[in-house]
Amino acid sequence: MNNSNQDKDTIVLTGDRPSGSLHLGHYVGSLANRIDFQNKYNQFVMIADVQALTDNFATPAKVHDNVFQVACDYLAVGIDPTKTTIFIQSLIPQIAELTIFYLNLVTVNRLRRNPTVKSEIKQKGFGENVPAGFLIYPVSQAADITFIKAKLVPVGEDQIPVIEQTNEIVRSFNRTYNTDILIEAQAIVPKVARLPGTDGQAKMSKSLNNAIYLSDSADVLAQKVKSMYTDPNHIKVSDPGNVEGNTVFTYLDVFDPDKQEVEALKEHYKRGGLGDSVVKKRLVDVLENFIAPIRTKRLEFEKDKSYIMNILRLGTEKTKDLAAKNMVEIKEVMKLNYF
Ligand code: TRP
Repeated sequence: MNNSNQDKDTIVLTGDRPSGSLHLGHYVGSLANRIDFQNKYNQFVMIADVQALTDNFATPAKVHDNVFQVACDYLAVGIDPTKTTIFIQSLIPQIAELTIFYLNLVTVNRLRRNPTVKSEIKQKGFGENVPAGFLIYPVSQAADITFIKAKLVPVGEDQIPVIEQTNEIVRSFNRTYNTDILIEAQAIVPKVARLPGTDGQAKMSKSLNNAIYLSDSADVLAQKVKSMYTDPNHIKVSDPGNVEGNTVFTYLDVFDPDKQEVEALKEHYKRGGLGDSVVKKRLVDVLENFIAPIRTKRLEFEKDKSYIMNILRLGTEKTKDLAAKNMVEIKEVMKLNYF
């Protein structure tokens, strides 16, 4: 077997919580990588509706609608359902079963100490009233990753502790049941710098209201760029300006194909004499060129819901078969095989 065939046997799993449609931060941080990985690996992308419910349990309609929206985003950016298996988490009952089994191998204190969980609890303002389902989501994510025997798990940096906990569960399971059936997963963290929000904050996110969506209209896009954070000390056009931490330049670095021109603009900006509005105008054009074809495809997909839902159905069915097969083996080592 040659190398490329081995890679095609390597299972990659990633996922998103469907709590909103996807934005440029998602594109840079994960979607671009998926478009690349689908040509190299056996890639599965999970729409994590169950995990989305851990902090959106009271708004199920929102989660439901966003399953479709996120699927439209995937296909519009070029995730190809003939190469990538897209599936819906809640339709794989084995994930819920495994979660229950794994909970025996994890202490409540260990979950409370998980840095990802800790910071999300703070960020979501749960205070003392942390839903148990939220507290244990790393265990459910361990089930997501292991039911399919994923080897590579592309995630954002903030998810690394969750993957570490997954691997602890894998080791504990294998030790406890004297098996090597579960495999440890390797987190793949994007090498590219995280895209800041339009307000200059480190993270682009729906809750911070600083995101540019793949579905934004040309007008909305232009407006968001106009209000973007630049150098607060660059007041007059003639003032020398700072390009470090200047969101407009950060975005040009990522999305403008003409790197030479970007360098020239930076030099001009630093010298003084280049107005923010000129640079922003360029960024509007650059981003519009990037988003326009995605937006067009996305609108077509949105109009054809049955086509999208059929892709999700087929991907889910394929995943179900694999889940059933792996679960037989897992139940066997846990002596949950009766008849
Ligand atoms: N927790 C991930 C996030 O918030 C989403 C997710 C759920 C996931 N299950 C997963 C990612 C399994 C990778 C593998 O981004």
